[in-house]
Amino acid sequence: MIHMAKPQIGEEEKQAVMEVLDSGMLAQGPRVKAFEEAFAEMCGVKYAIATSSGTTALHLALLANRIGVGDEVITSAFTFIASANSILYTGARPVFVDIDPRTFNLSADLIEVAITPKTKAIMPVHLYGLTCDMDPILRVAEKHNLVIIEDACQSHGAGYKGRKAGSFGTGAFSLYPTKNITSGEGGMITTDDPVIDEKCRVVRQHGMRKRYYHDELGFNFRMTDVHAAIGLAQLKKLDKFNVQRRANARFLSENLKGVTAPNIPDGQTHVFHQYTVRVPDGMRDALHTYLQEHEVGSEVYYPVPIHQQSFYVSDLGYKDSLPETERAAQEVLSLPVHAGLSASDLETIVAAVNEFFAGS
Ligand SMILES: Cc1ncc(COP(=O)(O)O)c(C=O)c1O
Repeated sequence: MIHMAKPQIGEEEKQAVMEVLDSGMLAQGPRVKAFEEAFAEMCGVKYAIATSSGTTALHLALLANRIGVGDEVITSAFTFIASANSILYTGARPVFVDIDPRTFNLSADLIEVAITPKTKAIMPVHLYGLTCDMDPILRVAEKHNLVIIEDACQSHGAGYKGRKAGSFGTGAFSLYPTKNITSGEGGMITTDDPVIDEKCRVVRQHGMRKRYYHDELGFNFRMTDVHAAIGLAQLKKLDKFNVQRRANARFLSENLKGVTAPNIPDGQTHVFHQYTVRVPDGMRDALHTYLQEHEVGSEVYYPVPIHQQSFYVSDLGYKDSLPETERAAQEVLSLPVHAGLSASDLETIVAAVNEFFAGS
């Protein structure tokens, strides 16, 4: 079976973990600090704050930007549930706008009409490894005095006109094992703002500035040094992994027939967390099943947009109509693109997809 994801763990990660275990200092410590510094440098920002997951990174990023009860945050419904749930955790309400069908990302043109007096932030989700079209989003944010919280959980190292994902506001990354780099579980917040940095560090650690003196409500959102040791070793390989993912994606795009290949807008560096095609004429599920039968992994990210998830409808009263989001949910299929694929794996994926269409 050719799997959708395969964490690339080598001797460097194993040795780094053993060093932490031998040190006896397992919780947040020097490795977390080193990982934060290296991650900030990768993104081209001043500060990075490690957390226990991408979800806690998003939650903390929102709290540090003072998003709370009564506020609205504009985002996409075509994403993993954590994007919108992190907004709910703060007491704020996600307001969904439709996606650009070419990129699957938030449509910048639709943001301004969704702004109300309650809007405090925009959360662009850089889906599949491609950043949103940030210039118009930044213009709207500036005009209406809104903060930007980037959900960069799928976009480590992605580029937009010379800048990196996570450098446009407060960024949040996931380090889950399927991501372009992993720490086992983990997350990272990125920012240039020293106030946001300090707030994240305090709230990550039970609202504690001085030991056992608690100024505000906080959480335990810390990363351990064991996880940071893995993440730091992985970060050194990020460029190599991303080059490999892009080469794999290029091969797939040049050879696949019958599907619409991913679009890479000018000036952007796609890091292909997912290689996601559109399958026409209602054939997506049949292709998914065919590939499974032929030992080729594939997955639908995401079959149910967030505004149609049952508890968003029944408990939270969402009844939006988002035509492009809903069409994408019916048509998308992601194929394996990870850095561990061999040339023969890629040939097998192409052959299986092309045989499906030749036979149908
Ligand atoms: C777009 C997006 N946002 C948020 C998350 C949450 O990250 P984590 O699973 O590390 O909590 C993910 C993880 O899959 C994601 O893909």
